Amino acid sequence: MNKMPADIIAIANQKGGEGKTTTSINLAHGLSLAGKRTLLVDMDPQGNSSGIFAEVDNLTKTVADLFLKKCTAEEIIIPTKYPNLDLMPAKISLAEVELSTLNVDAPYVMRDALDSVKDRYDAVVIDCPPSLSIFTINALGAAGYVVIPLQAEKFSIDGIKGLQGTIEGIKRRINPELRILGALITQLKSNTVLTKTILPVIQNYFPVFHTSISTGVAVGESHLSRRSLLDYSSGVKQAKEYQAFVKEVLDGIKK
Ligand SMILES: Nc1ncnc2c1ncn2[C@@H]1O[C@H](COP(=O)(O)OP(=O)(O)O)[C@@H](O)[C@H]1O
Ligand SMILES: [Mg+2]
Repeated sequence: MNKMPADIIAIANQKGGEGKTTTSINLAHGLSLAGKRTLLVDMDPQGNSSGIFAEVDNLTKTVADLFLKKCTAEEIIIPTKYPNLDLMPAKISLAEVELSTLNVDAPYVMRDALDSVKDRYDAVVIDCPPSLSIFTINALGAAGYVVIPLQAEKFSIDGIKGLQGTIEGIKRRINPELRILGALITQLKSNTVLTKTILPVIQNYFPVFHTSISTGVAVGESHLSRRSLLDYSSGVKQAKEYQAFVKEVLDGIKK
């Protein structure tokens, strides 16, 4: 069969709490609902997105085993409760492999792993850790696109220049194909603050998605019930916003 390999989208921001995991889960589920065979890759040792779909403590094979060269990607991937959506899970053991990855192919472990499975998927979403670690470098090295979730707040803006520099560095040295799909404003409380003061600053660095995600209790509730927001409460405002975001991503990755 002649088919294009998957579009690989990294969800990255070195700051924690910006909405990476929430965005990864809902983008991945949204793409699968749109008929795309989708793989969600968890590259965060916290294993937050894995915990939505699996009993993390019981997992025997995880992303850590890729870095330790103990497993192939195929052996690690598990199905989720959602059709069309598979998971490559991570857990805390991933943190321990960081120091053992100081060899020349360290930045390319995820790229090689995805190369071996990407013909089976239309889309791959990679949830990055809140750091510019070797894991984020791996994700950006493997991806065709990067999405940057970002709160419309001062401290979130402070890190934006560093992140832009990192992405440019990855493009120069590791992955010239990487394209910035855009920054996604998350946990938005006031549209006025966004448009007047924050948006112009962000737009100096990155294109910004038209859709932004407002703050709502259903988001935290969906995590507690271990479902995507699109599944937990598809009618709430934030679910509709995530649906609109998924549509923008699909438009952005059309070739
Ligand atoms: N739109 C939202 N409304 C309310 N809470 C949110 C929203 N997006 C994320 N959160 C909450 O903010 C916290 C951080 O989000 P998360 O997606 O885990 O960010 P990251 O992966 O970047 O650390 C979580 O507790 C999550 O439930
Ligand atoms: Mg996270």
